[in-house]
Amino acid sequence: MRYFPDSDACWLGGPGAAQVAAARLVGTTGTPVPDALAADHADAAVRLGVGAGAAVVALELDPDDDLGPEGFRLTRTPQGVAVAAASERGLVYGYHRLLTTGLDAAPLGEHRPSAPIRMLDDWDNLSAAEHLGSVERGFSGPSILFADGAMVADLSRLRDYGRLMASLGLNALCLNNVNVHDAGTHLIADMLPDVARAAAVLRDYGVTTYLAANFAAPITLGDLTTADPLDPGVRAWWAEACARVYAAVPDFGGFVVKADSEGRPGPFTYGRTHADGANMLAAALAPFGGTVFWRCFVYDCRQDWRDRSTDRARAAADHFQPLDGAFADNVVLQVKYGPIDFQAREAISPLLTTLRDTNVVIELQVTQEYTGQQKHVCYLGELWAEVLGFRIGRDADGGPSLGALVAGPAGARTGFAAVSNVGAGEFWTGHPFAQANLYAYGRLAWDPGLDPADILREWIAATYDLDAEASADLEAILLGSWATYEAYSAPLGVGFMVEPGHHYGPNVDGYEYSLWGTYHFADRDGIGVDRTVATGSGMTGLYTPEVAARYETLEACPDEYLLFFHHVPYGHVLHSGRTVIQHIYDSHFAGVEAVEAMRGSWAALRGALPARVVAEVDARLDEQLRCAVEWRDQINTYFFRKSGVPDAHGRLIHA
Ligand code: GCU
Repeated sequence: MRYFPDSDACWLGGPGAAQVAAARLVGTTGTPVPDALAADHADAAVRLGVGAGAAVVALELDPDDDLGPEGFRLTRTPQGVAVAAASERGLVYGYHRLLTTGLDAAPLGEHRPSAPIRMLDDWDNLSAAEHLGSVERGFSGPSILFADGAMVADLSRLRDYGRLMASLGLNALCLNNVNVHDAGTHLIADMLPDVARAAAVLRDYGVTTYLAANFAAPITLGDLTTADPLDPGVRAWWAEACARVYAAVPDFGGFVVKADSEGRPGPFTYGRTHADGANMLAAALAPFGGTVFWRCFVYDCRQDWRDRSTDRARAAADHFQPLDGAFADNVVLQVKYGPIDFQAREAISPLLTTLRDTNVVIELQVTQEYTGQQKHVCYLGELWAEVLGFRIGRDADGGPSLGALVAGPAGARTGFAAVSNVGAGEFWTGHPFAQANLYAYGRLAWDPGLDPADILREWIAATYDLDAEASADLEAILLGSWATYEAYSAPLGVGFMVEPGHHYGPNVDGYEYSLWGTYHFADRDGIGVDRTVATGSGMTGLYTPEVAARYETLEACPDEYLLFFHHVPYGHVLHSGRTVIQHIYDSHFAGVEAVEAMRGSWAALRGALPARVVAEVDARLDEQLRCAVEWRDQINTYFFRKSGVPDAHGRLIHA
């Protein structure tokens, strides 16, 4: 295996991998060792300077085994560990799981994914000159796939990415940005040979290739004057386009589509519904078994801030709930976990609680657009575990959880999608510790019931060779870091308050008078967005009745969502017993103190990590502290000036 250039910085170069690399790889009688594994394994042994050791990793392929199409079983044998699967894909995932854990810590037993779709969406542009650079909302260097309008010649970085994905059982990758600009549109046309090249690499690792498609492609590519989904010419155009795509990539997965959203074209232009649009593409893909992922991030991004009747948090449910049941079987609605946009804290999307007759994937954001942009340590496994454990209130017992919901009934196309955080930087994820987020996403997509603290410990063990004390220091830095980020940024679920455009660092009123529909409505008396049925936008009424009841009243609403659902005076007393204004002050002082404590753990840990990792983390922790202080001071000063209420503890607030 060609490990990462600085293997000490990545989990597939970690201690477990070295141990497996020293083993001999054999197929049991009748099981050929898949080519990709055999080649990888030989390289690894050579590169690590170890010959064939005593241990053996035996691969057993038995199509009659009941492990399912992607599952695997790990068994200890006198010679080493056996990986059994009913498919090559299962073998590949099982083998890479072993690379992650090592032979001694092999998770013996049967492993099956919770849901059939476990996808990463790269937001890679074809060139750095496109909107928001090489990778939209990318914080880890340029794209590993594209440069200067073309696919890069050397796909070894993609091969490494395939291995990372296989080690988590992630099975789908969308190669390009959901905002498909003119250059990206060509991927389904003259750039298909490149797509085939990428797909050949990913196939080795059990990963299916998808593309983000431009709904207006028939026009953009210069063939038609309309993209109307009900126009027979348009339907024929897409049918031919799909035939070309599948001729180049026979196991192509399908399209991800952002339509009628933030300036992207869509069916609304032609007076058609999103079901019309999605079903048209689904019909073109159906003969080949392909799937359309249709994103529900559809809202008015040209709203007038004076207009208090429009609530962006309602938009996805208002657009898509009436269409429940109207989508073809090979359409999957891709729904962001929150109704606004990947905030550190926001309510669950009401649409996720009420769709019944439609395939759904929940969309998470691994890239830390709103959570510190991979300069800040912010372990998102804890956020996602909470989201996936959220009970949507359909059953008598309050269930099912979102994790169980997206597992779907057998045969449905359901599961997980997430915006990736990788780039061509040395550590793949900007901050070396942001790899933990990629790892946690994959593990939770495989099993949403996992404990995020256990996942973190797995990642630490797979990545660095640390003694118990140093591991505990690293765990202390990451665990709770999401809560820390939440503490020093926008308070009590109100969200945003970030610098417009790039979304890094505080700016309380940055979006308050803008077109984007993300307001906090703070005045001298109070703060928050009234989304109740009784007196507000009525958004709470879009949930199942059980969930609606959790948010509609001040008595029931949990503190952490208070300002997402209610406008309250600064003196309103929270369930915690503190007033809103005192909570704002307390949490912002505590958030900075937590970052200082992180630096304490880091000082103890530094000596145990490679020099390059240390240099990188040193610089980023300095920046995190600087930024957290800026957040604390801007938020505290802003609300002190608005409310005139002093801090009960007399701490320094710059008036
Ligand atoms: C956010 C993000 C955009 C992105 C969009 C999306 O708004 O800032 O860069 O395009 O989400 O999910 O489509």
